[in-house]
Amino acid sequence: MVSTVACQGSVRDAAAFLAVWKMTADAEPSAATLALITACRQQDRASAEQALTQPAVDACFQEPVEGQSALMLAAEGGDTALVQSLLEKGAPWNATDRRGNCAGDYAARAGHEDTFEAIIEAGCRAELLLAALERKSASLSAEPPEGYLRQQLHYDNGGDGGERLMDAESCAVMMSWEGALMQAHAATVCSQGGDILNVGFGLGLVDDAIQSRQPRSHTIIEAHPDVHARMLAKGWADKPGVIIVFGRWQDVLPQLGQFDGIFFDTYSEYYEDLRQFHLALPKLLRPDGIYSFFNGLAATNATFHTVCCRVVAGELARMGISTQFIPLPIDASGNDTWKDVTNKYWQLDTYLLPVCQWDSEEQEQDVQNDDEERAATG
Ligand SMILES: C[S@@+](CC[C@H](N)C(=O)[O-])C[C@H]1O[C@@H](n2cnc3c(N)ncnc32)[C@H](O)[C@@H]1O
Repeated sequence: MVSTVACQGSVRDAAAFLAVWKMTADAEPSAATLALITACRQQDRASAEQALTQPAVDACFQEPVEGQSALMLAAEGGDTALVQSLLEKGAPWNATDRRGNCAGDYAARAGHEDTFEAIIEAGCRAELLLAALERKSASLSAEPPEGYLRQQLHYDNGGDGGERLMDAESCAVMMSWEGALMQAHAATVCSQGGDILNVGFGLGLVDDAIQSRQPRSHTIIEAHPDVHARMLAKGWADKPGVIIVFGRWQDVLPQLGQFDGIFFDTYSEYYEDLRQFHLALPKLLRPDGIYSFFNGLAATNATFHTVCCRVVAGELARMGISTQFIPLPIDASGNDTWKDVTNKYWQLDTYLLPVCQWDSEEQEQDVQNDDEERAATG
């Protein structure tokens, strides 16, 4: 489900990130590598920099007991200059120790904001580069991950009594603890009224919230036959203004018009799918429209999540879309919540709700350019 990159995993299930970088515990460390680890642990920058000049030094090494790397130790000590040197020497920003903590987590926990920022920036650079490389190879064999759509799904109640939508492998597709988030997403995308699009029905939580706001029209795209059958059984086809479009968004978008509010929340898709959806926004989202998406990007680790939020906001910014993240406290840590669930896809205590809009400066610039073009062409 996951490549070596934080943002490249499934958007809703990023648990496997913690196994991203294979620990090198079985490799015999050189004397220079051991000297590097010791120097970083003792916050001795001079000795660490000296060790880094040795040809035999391995900046990726993780000691076998705790799984700590030189980068984690330097981050814990808040030595930003040493952290930069280690990153330049190829220390992986997203290696995790045996408890699942990466260097950014070490810096954040110790309160070293500058060091944390340096690691986040390195993470963003690495993610963007690797995403570009992956896109290049993926374009040669672009096959949609359609396995999920052929699985039998079922609706049930979880350990906490809340309704869930589960796939055939006991992975949760959608859980009722997200209800408050879906309310907030609906309030965001419906804030201008008008025509609303939701991609992915699941439990229908966001659609219930959208309906309660009585938009002019309410289009729902859903690709799974079991979820579609449930929508029909629950009378969604007869609700006011509702238009159900059965199919994958990848296939049905061309038949749709424009919207004032758009929410995107699918399952078993990858970061690249979210990116592809974003590339469709210029045709879908009206000039004053509001777009939001379920922000479950790498939501099992706070550092990875921060990098993903930066990467996605940066990519949207390059399209002329500004993103504001609204922090919402969320507690999904109850043991009963995840009982019998294979994919514990949320492990953070704050949800960053994305509010995305066309950049007004860019729009003004476009209008100005159009005026100039008209004037030039007479
Ligand atoms: C996480 S659930 C959505 C939950 C929803 N936001 C709610 O409030 O209940 C994801 C939904 O997206 C659907 N889905 C997955 N891939 C899709 C695709 N490519 N196109 C349209 N729907 C898709 C799934 O079948 C599932 O119903």
